[in-house]
Amino acid sequence: MSTNADALAALWLPFTPNRQFKPEPRILARAEGMFYYDPQGRELLDGLAGLWCSLAGHGRKEISSAVAKQIHELDFAPTFQFAHPSVIELAGRLAAMAPANLDHVFFCNSGSEAADTALKIALAYWRAKGQAQRTRLVGRVRGYHGTNFGGMSVGGIANNRKAFGTMLGNVDHLPTTYDRAKQSFTKGDPEYGAHFADALEELVMLHGDTIAAVIVEPMAGSTGVLPPPKGYLQRLRQICDKHAILLIFDEVITMFGRMGTATAAERYQVTPDMITFAKGVTNGAIPMGGVIASKAIYDAFAQKDDWQIELFHGYTYSGHPVAAAAALATLNVYRDENLFERGRLIERWLEEAVHRLKGAPFVADIRNCGAAAAIDLEPLTGAPGKRGHEAIRRAFFDEGIVLRVGGDTIALGPALIAEQSHIERLVDGVDRVLRRLA
Ligand SMILES: Cc1ncc(COP(=O)(O)O)c(C=O)c1O
Repeated sequence: MSTNADALAALWLPFTPNRQFKPEPRILARAEGMFYYDPQGRELLDGLAGLWCSLAGHGRKEISSAVAKQIHELDFAPTFQFAHPSVIELAGRLAAMAPANLDHVFFCNSGSEAADTALKIALAYWRAKGQAQRTRLVGRVRGYHGTNFGGMSVGGIANNRKAFGTMLGNVDHLPTTYDRAKQSFTKGDPEYGAHFADALEELVMLHGDTIAAVIVEPMAGSTGVLPPPKGYLQRLRQICDKHAILLIFDEVITMFGRMGTATAAERYQVTPDMITFAKGVTNGAIPMGGVIASKAIYDAFAQKDDWQIELFHGYTYSGHPVAAAAALATLNVYRDENLFERGRLIERWLEEAVHRLKGAPFVADIRNCGAAAAIDLEPLTGAPGKRGHEAIRRAFFDEGIVLRVGGDTIALGPALIAEQSHIERLVDGVDRVLRRLA
């Protein structure tokens, strides 16, 4: 297959330097198991499960068959004032996977929509409770909650914000949990940093009872795998409880086994008021996202008159039948292959392998958490992000590896079907690429 240059010229890729990409495009034409294949059939090892989403590996026939069956049977059905069998079954399955008391599922189509949905539910919840002054949303520096206005505003990655002017008002941020001087080259969750949660007390002093919700990723993935310091999430929960602030865990990356458990909430034994999910829910095969909310939140929306709509929010494709069928098939694969438990095994292999890169050229820090790891490179003087970009631009592709590089940070998050040999091959590939850059 050749690439049609005119057609490629028409394509505007997200989060990509388009003008540099197009003369030397990296085309992924097919995928199976742990591998992508380029149009010439060359094999590329997928080190990031697509974009953190294809946890059961690519090309799962169980999922494509379920999708085909569903599209023949019920291609679309609205979920405004209707329901259909797949979405009903899926809501029950997801509620059962979430911590006790998180048992109501609102569907959307992506992680960004999930974040905005959760933030809107939080605002409407407080209004329903008669505390309409609670309109402030708190995120965290280096947090990522997608690219819609709500998620962007509570997000804490500067490049994702700076071009867009005034965003939501009434937003504040906790500090990042990352302190390289105290945490570098830690294996797993750092001992140092639980106290970063105390910044929420300061925000309460500043803003009084106007904070509606705090949203954090239990493990911050997109910014480069920042594991939570030991005790941090517990402390955040305590402070939220003390001041009646809703706690939202953005589990778009962490739900469905990435942490060796169904949710990060389960791994850390901290129950938020809402969990957002997306990505792994359909193994990446069909877009879907959602919010799992507590009974207390759902109950607050009860209307005096049953005929009244409780929440004026939703998307045409909320709970789309084809996505729901893909999700049900995906959850069966996760269950039948024990993939959440397998996440623990991969965590061990990855931790062992990735920390061997300490001392490789430009490596400034290495972190790992669950089946995820990141390697920070020393930035080029005066051009932060360029070294990482050079690594991704051709070196990894030439090396036969697909990985994500954000700024000067390389992220690894293989599918949960990975064998130890895949992980060794990934890390050896990173090592070779760094030596080539030297
Ligand atoms: C924690 C988190 N929230 C939200 C999102 C946004 O998801 P999407 O790209 O599906 O909108 C992501 C994407 O990586 C994410 O990691």
